[in-house]
Parts: sequence; C-alpha cells; structure tokens
Amino acid sequence: TMGPVRLFFLVLATAAPLFSAAQSFGYPTANLSTLWINNDASLPHVHYKGGLVVRPILLRSQSKYYSQSFGTGFFCAPPYDMFYFGVFIVQTDPDTRIIGGNPPVVWSANRARPVRENATVELTSDGELILRDADGSLVWSTGSSGRSVAGMVITNIGNLVLFDLMNATVWQSFDHPTDALVPGQSLLEGMKLTASTSATNWTENQLYATVLSDGLYAYVASAPPQNYYMLTSNEDKTGNETTRVTFMNSSLCIFLNSTFKDPNSISWPTTTSAQFIRLGYDGHLRMHEWDMAEETWPAVEEVMKPNFGDCGFPTVCGEYGICTGRKCTCPLQDNYSSGYFKPIGDPKDNLGCTPLTPISCQEMQHHQLLTLDEVSYFDVNYPVENATTPDDCKQACLKNCSCRAVNFRQYYGQTGTDGHCLWVTKVFSLQSIKLESVNYKSSVFIKVQLGPSNSAAASARSTNNSNLILGTAIPAIVIVVLLAIVVTLYLQRRRAYYDKKDEDFSFDQFARMPARFSFQKLRECTQGFSKKLGEGGFGSVYEGKLGEERVAVKRLESARQGKKEFLAEVETIGSIEHINLVRLIGFCAEKSQRLLVYEYMPRGSLDRWIHYRHNNAPLNWGTRSRIILDIAKGLCYLHEECRRKMAHLDIKPQNILLDENFNAKVADFGLSKLIDRDQSKVVTVMRGTPGYLAPEWLTSQITEKVDVYSFGVVVMELISGRKNIDNSLPEASSNLTNLLRGKARDNQLSDLIDKHSEDMLSHHEQVIQMMKFAMWCLLNDGCQRPSMSTVIKVLEGVTSIETAILHRFIDANSVMPVQDNISAYSVQPQASTLSGPR
Ligand SMILES: *[C@@H]1O[C@H](CO)[C@@H](O)[C@H](O)[C@H]1NC(C)=O
Ligand SMILES: *[C@@H]1O[C@H](CO)[C@@H](O)[C@H](O)[C@H]1NC(C)=O
Ligand SMILES: *[C@@H]1O[C@H](CO)[C@@H](O)[C@H](O)[C@H]1NC(C)=O
Ligand SMILES: *[C@@H]1O[C@H](CO)[C@@H](O)[C@H](O)[C@H]1NC(C)=O
Ligand SMILES: *[C@@H]1O[C@H](CO)[C@@H](O)[C@H](O)[C@H]1NC(C)=O
Ligand SMILES: *[C@@H]1O[C@H](CO)[C@@H](O)[C@H](O)[C@H]1NC(C)=O
Ligand SMILES: *[C@@H]1O[C@H](CO)[C@@H](O)[C@H](O)[C@H]1NC(C)=O
Ligand SMILES: *[C@@H]1O[C@H](CO)[C@@H](O)[C@H](O)[C@H]1NC(C)=O
Ligand SMILES: *[C@@H]1O[C@H](CO)[C@@H](O)[C@H](O)[C@H]1NC(C)=O
Ligand SMILES: *[C@@H]1O[C@H](CO)[C@@H](O)[C@H](O)[C@H]1NC(C)=O
Repeated sequence: TMGPVRLFFLVLATAAPLFSAAQSFGYPTANLSTLWINNDASLPHVHYKGGLVVRPILLRSQSKYYSQSFGTGFFCAPPYDMFYFGVFIVQTDPDTRIIGGNPPVVWSANRARPVRENATVELTSDGELILRDADGSLVWSTGSSGRSVAGMVITNIGNLVLFDLMNATVWQSFDHPTDALVPGQSLLEGMKLTASTSATNWTENQLYATVLSDGLYAYVASAPPQNYYMLTSNEDKTGNETTRVTFMNSSLCIFLNSTFKDPNSISWPTTTSAQFIRLGYDGHLRMHEWDMAEETWPAVEEVMKPNFGDCGFPTVCGEYGICTGRKCTCPLQDNYSSGYFKPIGDPKDNLGCTPLTPISCQEMQHHQLLTLDEVSYFDVNYPVENATTPDDCKQACLKNCSCRAVNFRQYYGQTGTDGHCLWVTKVFSLQSIKLESVNYKSSVFIKVQLGPSNSAAASARSTNNSNLILGTAIPAIVIVVLLAIVVTLYLQRRRAYYDKKDEDFSFDQFARMPARFSFQKLRECTQGFSKKLGEGGFGSVYEGKLGEERVAVKRLESARQGKKEFLAEVETIGSIEHINLVRLIGFCAEKSQRLLVYEYMPRGSLDRWIHYRHNNAPLNWGTRSRIILDIAKGLCYLHEECRRKMAHLDIKPQNILLDENFNAKVADFGLSKLIDRDQSKVVTVMRGTPGYLAPEWLTSQITEKVDVYSFGVVVMELISGRKNIDNSLPEASSNLTNLLRGKARDNQLSDLIDKHSEDMLSHHEQVIQMMKFAMWCLLNDGCQRPSMSTVIKVLEGVTSIETAILHRFIDANSVMPVQDNISAYSVQPQASTLSGPR
C-alpha cells in the first residue's frame, strides 16, 4: 500500500543523484554490431553524490511504477576514476528514469582490471561481446561460442544474456558469477563466488564459496584449500544431476538432484528482487536489502555462521592472529610478545602477525613448536593418521616441513590416547576457545624457526626482566602499605554495613544461609551485567567473578517477587545442597533489586548439547546415560530426601546445567513451590514450559509426578537428539511423545535413536531399554509413573520395567492439551479447569 506520503517522499528522493540530462533509458535489448563508448556524450548517465557514476547501455525496468531495475553498462566507484563494465541495480521512476540510492554492482566483467573514460564495449557482428580500454587494448570478451547470436538482453532478474534466433541462451552472466547472487540466480556445482580485495579494490582475494555435490562450502585458498564453512543438505544425493544452490525466497536453497531449469524461463515475482547476497572481502556472506527510507542497501542477514562465530573467518585476525571475541593478538611465548611473532602494521588494523624468523626447510633442526592452549583452528579436513597423543601430533609436524602448525583436539569422553591431530600448511586466523562452546580440549602447536634473532630476543628478555624487577621493587613496598590501609578501612566499613542490616533482617544468623551481597558488589563482579549467559522466565543470568571463582548471577525481574517471598525462597534454596543440584552461593535484596548468585557451570545448559549439534560433536551414549542418572538423582533429592519436599515444576533441558566434566545439575528452582510432607498435593497457577507439561496440569491436581513426566520428555530428547516439539518437522513427527507412541506400537523404536551419533547406534539395545523406561515416566496417569527413587533403581539396574507398562503407554489417548500451542499456554487457565482449592 503505497500511500501519497510515500510517493511524495520518493519524488523528493529523486533529488539525490545529479542528473546531467533528464533522460529515460528504455531498452532492455541490443542488436548486433553495436558499439558503446564510455563517456557522457555518447551514453545516458547519472552522476551520484560522492562521485559514483553509472552509464547504462541496457536497462530493464521491473514495473511501470517506482521500482528497481537491472542495468548493464559502465560503472565508476570512487575513490578511483576507473570504470567497470557490469550489471547493477538502480531505482527507477514510472518513466524509467533513474532516481536516488547508490546502485550496487552484482556482476562485473573486468573486476581486476577497471577501464578508463572512452573505453568501449562492442557487440560484434558475429555475436561476441568485447570490452576494450581507451587505448584499444583488449580487456575482456565473451569469446566466440561458434553459435550464432541474434542479440543481447538484460533479463528481469538481472542476467545479461546473448541469445540466438530461437531465443535460446548462448552466453549468460549467470554462468560467470563474481561475488554476488541476485534472487533467482543459482550457483551450479563447481561455480564459485570469489570475494574482492576490499570495498574499493575489486580484484579477487583468496576467499571463495563454491558448490560441491552436497552443498555450499566456503574456503580460503591455500595449498590445500582450507574450509571455514559449509551448508549442506539434510537429504542424501541419489540422482546424478548437477547440485545447485539457488538464492530464492530470501535464503539459499540446496537442490541435490533436480534438473536445472533455465532461470530465464522462470517468471520470478518482481518483489523478490530488492535483495542480493554478496561474499564480502572479509569472507562473510551477507544478504543485503533495499531500504526505501534510507535509500541504502544495508546487510540484513549473515548467510554463513561458522562454528566459531565471527572468530571463525580465516582472515579476521590475519595470518597467525588469535581471535578472542573482538580482539586479535599475536601468539606469545611465556607472555612475551617479542618472542617469535610481531604484528603486521598497526596492531589495531588486525592485519595479522609475522614470524621474526621465516621458516626455513634447510634448517629443520632449528624448528620448534610453540604451544597455544585453549586455542583451536577452523579447518578440520586434514587429520594426521595414527597421531592420537599430543606428542605424536607434534612429532608428525616437526618431521615434515610443509606442516606449519597442528591442532590437537581431545573430545570429551575419549581416553587420554584418543585425540585428533589436524594438519595446517598455512596458518590463517586462530580461535581462542572457551570450554562452554565446544566439547573438546584443544591446543595448537605453531612451528617457529629458531635463529640468531631469537637468541638475541631471549637475552634481551632476561635483561628487561632484571630492569623490571629493580624498577618495581620500591613502588611495590609503597603499594603493600597502601593496600593494608585500604583493607583495614574496608573491613571496618563492612562491619558497620552488616551491623546496620542486621537490624532489618535476621537472616544472617542462619548457619546455612547463603552469603549476602550488595547490589554494587554484584554489579562490579559482573562488570555492569555485561556478559549475559542466558535468559529465563524470571530474569537474565550474567557471568561474574567473585575473587577467583566464576559465578552466575541471576537478576530477577523485581516486579514479580516481594521481599518476603524472595527471602523465603533464598532460605529454601540455600538449605539444599546436593551434587546434582546447582548450588546457591549468595543473594542480594536491595530496594527493588533481587539477585541470586549461583555456582558457574562452564558447559552451559543441556539444550545446547542436544539440540544444536552443528556446533558440537554429538555426545556419546555413556555421557548421555550418565546425564540421565544425574538428573534423576537431583530430582530424587528434591522430591524425597530434602528437609522440605519440593517439586521443580519446570524440568527441561534449559534447566539442566553441565559442569566441565559433563556432570549434570538441576538448576532454577525459581518456579518451584514447597510441598509439605503431609500434604501430597499442591495447587499452583499453571507453570512450566509447553512441551514438557504433564497432562494433569489441566485436569487434576499437581504432584511432584509432573517432574517425572518432564524428566521422561528430557530422556527422550537426549536419546533422539531433537526437541520434543519441533514445528519445523512435518506434522506427523513434530511431537516426539506422539511419535514415540506410534513407533512403539509399530515396534520401530530404533527409528528414534539419534542418527548423528554412531556411538548411540552401536548401543542400540541399551538405548531401546532406556526408551521403554521413558515411556513409563510418560504415562498419562501421574500415579502410575515411577517415583524418582524407583527411577534410580531402574537406571542402576536394581529393578526392571514391567512390559505391561508399555501397553498402557501405547494404548493411552495421545491427546495432549495445550502443549502444542504456546499462545494457548500464555493465556491464564480458567478457574474451572483447575480443580482443588486455590
Ligand atoms: C534492432 O533491430 C530491429 C530490427 O532491425 C529494430 O527494429 C530495432 O529497433 C533494433 N533495436 C535497437 C535497440 O536498435
Ligand atoms: C574521450 O573522447 C572524446 C571524443 O573523442 C574526447 O573529446 C575526450 O577528450 C576523451 N576523453 C578522455 C578522458 O580521453
Ligand atoms: C523471442 O522472444 C521475443 C520477445 O519475448 C518474441 O517476440 C519472439 O517471438 C521470440 N522468438 C522466438 C523464435 O521464440
Ligand atoms: C588491488 O589489489 C590487488 C591485489 O592485492 C593489487 O595488486 C592492486 O594493486 C590493487 N589495486 C589498487 C588500485 O589498489
Ligand atoms: C531426489 O532427491 C530426493 C530426496 O532428496 C529423492 O526423494 C528423489 O527420489 C531424488 N530423485 C532422483 C531422481 O533421484
Ligand atoms: C544420469 O544417469 C542416467 C542413467 O543412469 C544417464 O542416462 C544420464 O546420462 C546421467 N546423467 C548425467 C548428467 O550423467
Ligand atoms: C518460494 O517462492 C516461490 C515463489 O513465490 C513459491 O512458489 C515457493 O512455494 C516458495 N518456496 C518456499 C519453500 O517458500
Ligand atoms: C601468562 O599470563 C597469564 C595471565 O596473564 C598467566 O596466568 C600465566 O601464568 C602467564 N604465563 C607465564 C608463562 O608467565
Ligand atoms: C596406522 O596404524 C595402523 C595399525 O597400527 C597401520 O596399519 C597403519 O599403517 C598406520 N598408518 C600410518 C600412516 O602410519
Ligand atoms: C609432507 O606432507 C605433504 C602433504 O602435506 C606430503 O605431500 C609430503 O610427501 C610430506 N613429506 C614428507 C617428507 O613426508
């Protein structure tokens, strides 16, 4: 709906380009034997603000209204006064006059060799398109195909085509992509997008994206090429047709075995075209979209998201640069930068690092490996066979001069001699890793050359050291004295603070009460709540540091909880200590601020490890079954063993946290309500998360058995490596619980085992047994579900499952209220649907 306001605005916007002539450029086709000269006198032209010039020779308007149009012709991009011949996108008015907004170039014939004013492009009488510079030198040509050409056309999707008398395509720009794709354009198997050197220099650099038989792959060129991203199809290739990746419907679609249709024969909706995808000079593949209000083409989406995020791009920190968040550093030896590498240029520019002594294959005896712990490398394609320990890995690299570094990875759950050694022949950017984002330990060993300069550097270092010691000794004494004074003052203040607080509250007298912190202290320890770990229903969680200990600080939304309830909850949570429950360290209750300080769990929540496996290798069966037992023990403690019986009421993978060794702990008792031992049922407002809710939430009273149901869901998710409710799947399989019922009925339970893990498949028998056990937990009638102590007995093999239970699960009515529909859930349940007193 383009109202009069919009139109008015657009007319105003036409003031942006400086017109030399109010011409309209109408022709989308050209005849043979036509010559165009690149100057204002012979071609229509638009000079934009900032020096950009376009001189279209053909223009295809998308519609008879304001729209974008594809043009082919000459294009000059500042700062250089040089021209490219190519295809660009311009905005046009109803008279096909070009209006505002700097046009992007989506294809060019001479990206590495721009031409000057008075260069020519000619469609010759025998149907060849030839670009010559002003001095007549040949710059580029389509070559002659031997087929007769009738003319040239720019199509409505931006394809420059030479066609024959039967309108068949003889040559097309879509067969020779540069760094961009327009909607409707395909990359066929073997075709490449190659990035430019910089925004102003369009010479190709070493980064490219190409289509292989199973999808799109991005590489940095070297010998051999190193892979930094892949987008592959979930399906298996069965036919022998050419794979293609097509930019359509705002995304890249992979077609493995479809017969390729001529893009020119498809009529694409005109509205889909206000976008293009470009492989940027930094290796990012971004989708750009026309912003009518700003008259620009901002990047609206990153199409490629490598494993290590922004650090996963090979040139982000240059060669040998180590990427940490947004910072780049050079490899250090014992924390001294002068050891073996120095930054290239200004360190701020992140151009990478260069070895002080280049590697020499003549002096291999002086090669040494620099160890970088907690550093990884993006390319995993060249494993060294039989090198399963760090020492073997290092030896393999030292033996061969073409090895410049090795990345040794030890996946969690593997034994000490079962690592992966990955070979690097040219070192691009390295990635500093944090434990929580990967499930392996990783070190990189970088080859350096010992030479005269290193010995010099080493001795320079020791003299620097002694200077350092002399220089710091005297100030150090002063600092110690000052520190002592500060600490004394602080202790006095602190005592005063607590004395005052004790008048208000008497909680500090409880021996088990967690520590109380001031808001100021927690703000400092989280650096102003800057590192968010996650977000839950009750507030956000931030990373913080108390002394040496890392902690997770949960900031509750103040409006929801009064001080009384909060302190009661803190008291309850603080009194609970169990190895499989996340420990509460402290809290803060100041004015409206409510914060809880928990122990930090380095590997984050379970969902990250079972739903987002493209970042992580799948967990093996041993780890998964241990996690299940851990959750069971945590819940059992809550239900049966602690001072006051308690139901969790929101068990889901997001609330299961993992420590460094994949020990699972149950987190977030924020939703739980106390259950008194003598009153086995409690009614609360409906809580929890759709997909994990037990059926009795709407029909009967709530007991701790709802946790057993949610636990059963989590067990199934762990086994099958998917979400319980996954609306991206076909309806028949979108609900895992219903699917389980169907598969159990048809005796096809093995279909549900996570296929990403060979280890899971090889423990087939045990996994099926675990599924049967999950069915017991998933019975619709809460009373028939096992208690958590029974669960543990089953898991530990003390008790077995009756087969009758399976039939009860299979025969049950599979209708599950609310859980499919999040919006239905967010509506408060009506009073009549909840029985029992409120
Ligand atoms: C191309 O040739 C045809 C037939 O000779 C003519 O009608 C048409 O005007 C020509 N087109 C242009 C753009 O010169
Ligand atoms: C381009 O050619 C025109 C006509 O031949 C000439 O007047 C003009 O000086 C030339 N421009 C350049 C930059 O050589
Ligand atoms: C080629 O396409 C033009 C324009 O679409 C049409 O007028 C002409 O009839 C076509 N010729 C053949 C041989 O199909
Ligand atoms: C563009 O980059 C290439 C490759 O780095 C370089 O050889 C060329 O000189 C650059 N061109 C300009 C105009 O800077
Ligand atoms: C193409 O692939 C799909 C699944 O990816 C498959 O169902 C279909 O049979 C294949 N077609 C041919 C001709 O192989
Ligand atoms: C694909 O296989 C079929 C039959 O096996 C064969 O006729 C056809 O030529 C093949 N196509 C290609 C592109 O290799
Ligand atoms: C993509 O867009 C085309 C044309 O609008 C449409 O026919 C097709 O169904 C869409 N495909 C998907 C997967 O959305
Ligand atoms: C390097 O610095 C880090 C932190 O600044 C420190 O933990 C480590 O011990 C230092 N290593 C050496 C060898 O000095
Ligand atoms: C790796 O070990 C196996 C068995 O020990 C041996 O057969 C094979 O030759 C070894 N490969 C290499 C490259 O050393
Ligand atoms: C070193 O490794 C390369 C491959 O990375 C291999 O082609 C070459 O043969 C190896 N050289 C030696 C001496 O093993």
